Amino acid sequence: MVQVCFVCLGNICRSPLAEGVFKSLVAREGLENKIFVSSAGVGDWHIGELPDARMMQTARKNGLQLTSRARQFQAEDFHSTDLILAMDESNLSALEQMSPSLDAREKLRLFRSFDQENRGDLNVPDPYYGGAGGFDHVFEIVQRTCPGVLQFIKDRSGL
Ligand code: 4NP
Repeated sequence: MVQVCFVCLGNICRSPLAEGVFKSLVAREGLENKIFVSSAGVGDWHIGELPDARMMQTARKNGLQLTSRARQFQAEDFHSTDLILAMDESNLSALEQMSPSLDAREKLRLFRSFDQENRGDLNVPDPYYGGAGGFDHVFEIVQRTCPGVLQFIKDRSGL
């Protein structure tokens, strides 16, 4: 089983959406028994909460129900997880600081490094303090980037 974890700051906007979109992609390809998908936050403010209502609404509008509960990424997660996808560069540096070894650090990637339309911008913008349009923009980025992540996993693990 390949374990993949999406990580943002609060685990209530960007990474729960990526978890939901990626899970649906994995299910569509019949790979639920091969790829385990989760998400987490580097912060602890929202532990136990459902995703932000605005993110859930954007997801629902696009046919996706988000049901995850926020949790904080722990150093031990480096052991159980094969691929850790940071939603922005600040999340990545927080994860780098937590990583227990060089091997663990190699599990880290920036999510948007798999976005063929990133035009050099490797951050999924944090929509939390902005307007509704920010959530749609995050959806667009996540939707377009997830297939590249799946292809990377398939190539690397021979799925
Ligand atoms: P996320 O968005 O990292 O995409 O879940 C945020 C959620 C909450 C906060 C910041 C970003 N916050 O400061 O509480």
